[in-house]
Amino acid sequence: MNEMAKPPVPDLGLTQRYPDIGTGPVDTAIYHEPAVYAKELEAILRPSWYMIGRVEQILRAGDFFTCELPTFGYELLICRDRQGNVNGFHNVCTHRGNVAEHRREGHSAGLFTCRFHGWSFDLEGNLKRIRDEEGFFGCDKKKMGLRRIATGVWQGFIFVCPAEEPAQSLEEWLGEQGADTADYPWGQCTQSYQWECEIACNWKLVNDSPAEVYHIPVLHPNSAAPTMMASGNPMGRLLDVRIRGNHRTNSHYSVAGEPKPVQKLAYFHAAAAQNVAGAARDYPPGINPTRSPFWTVDLIMFFPTLSFTLSAGMYTAHQVWPLGPNRSLYRQRVFVQPARTAAERFGQENTMVEFRDVVMEDFSTLERIQRALDSGQIREFHYHDHELALRHQHHVVTKTLAAYDREQAAA
Ligand code: FES
Ligand SMILES: [Fe+2]
Repeated sequence: MNEMAKPPVPDLGLTQRYPDIGTGPVDTAIYHEPAVYAKELEAILRPSWYMIGRVEQILRAGDFFTCELPTFGYELLICRDRQGNVNGFHNVCTHRGNVAEHRREGHSAGLFTCRFHGWSFDLEGNLKRIRDEEGFFGCDKKKMGLRRIATGVWQGFIFVCPAEEPAQSLEEWLGEQGADTADYPWGQCTQSYQWECEIACNWKLVNDSPAEVYHIPVLHPNSAAPTMMASGNPMGRLLDVRIRGNHRTNSHYSVAGEPKPVQKLAYFHAAAAQNVAGAARDYPPGINPTRSPFWTVDLIMFFPTLSFTLSAGMYTAHQVWPLGPNRSLYRQRVFVQPARTAAERFGQENTMVEFRDVVMEDFSTLERIQRALDSGQIREFHYHDHELALRHQHHVVTKTLAAYDREQAAA
């Protein structure tokens, strides 16, 4: 038996590293009270930055895509102008509010023309043409361009901030977490697929779901457990949880494990998530920060609603769009490198399907938990040491809401 077959059981003691966070049970009110959600919208959600796409979607001047920010009900138009800038606008025609561009993606020769009465806007959002302009009563075209939304790019990801005047730049918001993961080869995974679903639960429960692996041996006995737990980690512990301001990273443990025959075949061929235990890789300091040979993936969380499962050769973006105190939209986008062989493609597909299945297994619990919260039947959560990420989220939300209350009282 080689050394890899007998990995050490990960230690306890993660939570005590962060004495501010405490160890006691936490109040569950923030998971269901409408008044808390209303406050979260202003104190947490509106000031944050949201990833809405990749620069590869708009490589040439005139390329564009449209998208929604479901939490805020915003329709956006993102395009590249002739100077190469990535511009973000509210996709709202300034005549009477129809979308200025109705297509999901495409190329514009230079103008976006509203399909209601034909007003046109250029790639910088300026209002260029009003049909039968003489019939209006002094429209000042210079003041009637598309409204901009704060837009930034990090590692090829396009982000927007819904606040009128963002309190933090994109770089400030990404913080140390962004700096320490910037050198991951984000741009090499040029192919992606996406799926989404609506869940009747609070947005923080959706974040909580993959943020602890204490449940893996019980909830995922046939999907994740055979490769993530194996004999060396029967309780499903993490390698590490590292907190960076409001953000954090969970490092997941893996051993060669006991994969099923189809998994064996897939892992052998794919530079994918589950087959990298023991692989020495030159990652930036924010990825596999303990440099453990038993590392498999990191869950890199950018609070409040974006996280990435990062591994060798592929990564997955998880986004939660809060829709109310007990309703959320979850969107998963998996990014892979172009497969060089059919075998690699098979391995990638297998990983994608496994990821989806594991997430669906996770989500099966969320609506039940929400019903217990809404009916007042669970007033406290007790967190295990390795559920530190959940405790951290609770701490950050509570702390931010308290600061918001103080600001409001002082205003
Ligand atoms: S609403 Fe766009 S032209 Fe009238
Ligand atoms: Fe899970």
